[in-house]
Amino acid sequence: MGVANVAARPSTRGIVTATLPDLAYDYGALEPVISGEIMQLHHAKHHNTYVNNFNVAMEKYAEAELKGDVGTMISLQGAIKFNGGGHVNHSMFWKNLAPPGECEPPLGELLSMIERDFGSLDALKSKFAAQTIAVQGSGWGWLGLEKATGKLAVATTANQDPCSTTGLTPLLGVDVWEHAYYLQYKNVRPDYINAIWDVVNWKDVAGNLEDAK
Ligand SMILES: [Fe+2]
Repeated sequence: MGVANVAARPSTRGIVTATLPDLAYDYGALEPVISGEIMQLHHAKHHNTYVNNFNVAMEKYAEAELKGDVGTMISLQGAIKFNGGGHVNHSMFWKNLAPPGECEPPLGELLSMIERDFGSLDALKSKFAAQTIAVQGSGWGWLGLEKATGKLAVATTANQDPCSTTGLTPLLGVDVWEHAYYLQYKNVRPDYINAIWDVVNWKDVAGNLEDAK
């Protein structure tokens, strides 16, 4: 079951609520690629804020729905998309990463698909980097599966729009909000994107591919 399906669950009242997931590694475990300070702020502050704001918006939405207040329901949709997207995206991102000593290159079917659809792993990295570096303002870079064709593709989204809005099922997401890298890489997003491959957990990406099929 993919992250998107387990990131938020209905409560006993029937309202979907989100919970900040624990990381599978310590905040400093991704160093030197991502500093412990960035990881601590990113997870405990930024992601937690999306969780809290999503839950508040969903509570308000449920109240409006009970009253049949369609106007309020519509007005809450932006907050639900932004904060719910932030929660789903970050929940996937943490699992897509692992300490550098534990990361191995993609293997098997995932590698075969990468070579078929991009030419090589390096070609995928180049395409991913070019598109993700070019995201204007805040957003995400994605490697996803196009279910209709069974092919892998690279996409980007703005703000916290989830990968699903592109039509792809997400396998790997990279956060390119400045909060993800600025304390360490300053304004040089390309250095962050080029470094992040050393902490990409390709086993998790392969697991997402299995789940997506
Ligand atoms: Fe983020």
